[in-house]
Amino acid sequence: MQNDIQEVLITRKEIEDKVAELGAILSKEYEGRNPLVICVLKGAFIFMADLVKEITVPIELDFMAVSSYGASTKSSGVVKIIKDLDTSVEGRDVLIVEDIIDSGLTLTYLIDVLRRRGAKSTVVVTLFDKPARRTADLQADYTGFVLPDEFVVGYGLDYAEKYRNLPFIGVLKPEVYTT
Ligand code: PRP
Ligand code: MN
Ligand code: MG
Repeated sequence: MQNDIQEVLITRKEIEDKVAELGAILSKEYEGRNPLVICVLKGAFIFMADLVKEITVPIELDFMAVSSYGASTKSSGVVKIIKDLDTSVEGRDVLIVEDIIDSGLTLTYLIDVLRRRGAKSTVVVTLFDKPARRTADLQADYTGFVLPDEFVVGYGLDYAEKYRNLPFIGVLKPEVYTT
């Protein structure tokens, strides 16, 4: 698996430090507010698990699975809800946890759904951002790292469902995928 990686862009330690920093900020922001923290599956599962351990105030969790990429490196532009929340967001402060924002289509869609369902506030924390690829008018409230326009994998991010379990962010060798 590691043989398919051309370069490590962000190390495990750099990610750890950043996640701790974000957790400390969010602990202050959400003190006394009991937010509903929503993990956008599948990509955000590792970030979610690491981040909530750094949040020191009471929260509730839920999970939603959406997909727009399928087995391609390019967004299809069509967002599908594969698994919906179990919890009502009505009147809740919602914190959306995402691994990466690329075109911004996934989150634009998700935020719209959550607002229409009556969420009191929707805040986005993303570990990675690729602003160069943005087509939707969307910005995260909290961002860990800004990435160059390269196809990256690891720490939850996949290519054709693989490489999510790498503990760092790496660039895939071009010969591994076909675009
Ligand atoms: C990836 C990533 C984000 C989204 C970002 O998810 O995890 O959720 O794409 O892209 P966008 O800003 O262009 O919408 P994907 O659809 O690949 O599903 P996955 O999380 O299950 O891998
Ligand atoms: Mn995703
Ligand atoms: Mg994906």
